[in-house]
Amino acid sequence: IVAAFQPKRLAGKTLLITAGPTFEAIDPVRGITNLSSGKMGFALARAAREAGAQVTLVAGPVSLPTPRGVQRIDVRSARQMHDTVLPLAPRHDVFVATAAVADWRPATLAEHKIKKDGKKQAPTFELTENPDILAAVAALRGAKPYCVGFAAESENLLEHARAKLKRKGIPLIVGNLGPATFGRDDNALLLVDATTQQALPADGGTADKLSLARLLVADIAARLQAAHHPA
Ligand code: CTP
Ligand code: CA
Repeated sequence: IVAAFQPKRLAGKTLLITAGPTFEAIDPVRGITNLSSGKMGFALARAAREAGAQVTLVAGPVSLPTPRGVQRIDVRSARQMHDTVLPLAPRHDVFVATAAVADWRPATLAEHKIKKDGKKQAPTFELTENPDILAAVAALRGAKPYCVGFAAESENLLEHARAKLKRKGIPLIVGNLGPATFGRDDNALLLVDATTQQALPADGGTADKLSLARLLVADIAARLQAAHHPA
């Protein structure tokens, strides 16, 4: 009911969103993952849809219902997420990377379950780096979406967010203090671009993730507008 009264700020726009954790297999029954719940990305997909956008949501392993009217593609590993996102990206106006992508994966995948029997020592695992999906989209030549990153930090939020903005070559990054927000319904965001920073909610407090998602959608819509019609 509320949505019906919201302006369709993203009518005619296409949004691609990654959400949730990734799962990096060690053997057929084990793997490395993280505590991302996917709630922020799913809330953003819902808010963008409410705002009239056509939304594609690429989700890691999460237990959340698909928001109404959103096209969802489930993936498991960072490489699957990368291989799903890259071909879709040029066809979208906006890419928002909310996923907590595993930075590393086990260098080798054991074909069978690794057993304890006979081993005197615990196994060790060599890790190898995963592709950076956001940086890869931002580096696309030709048609590419407006790229928005998320940064979960445990300290020095603004400093780390600005550094990531530069490193990934993106116009906007949304910072939040990771351990305080993973899995929770409430969050506080810091929108950081090359020259400005702005807290959401504006009073510096916290808000539920759907309210934050709606504020973020309104902000992204305004930035798109400004990019197309510079003052
Ligand atoms: N990201 C991504 N692919 C990766 C790693 C990160 O698309 N392999 C995206 C995330 O979805 C997020 C942004 O990049 O939007 C920042 O992720 P973050 O983990 O904070 O940055 P990293 O570059 O991985 O740096 P670090 O984890 O060392 O802080
Ligand atoms: Ca990371």
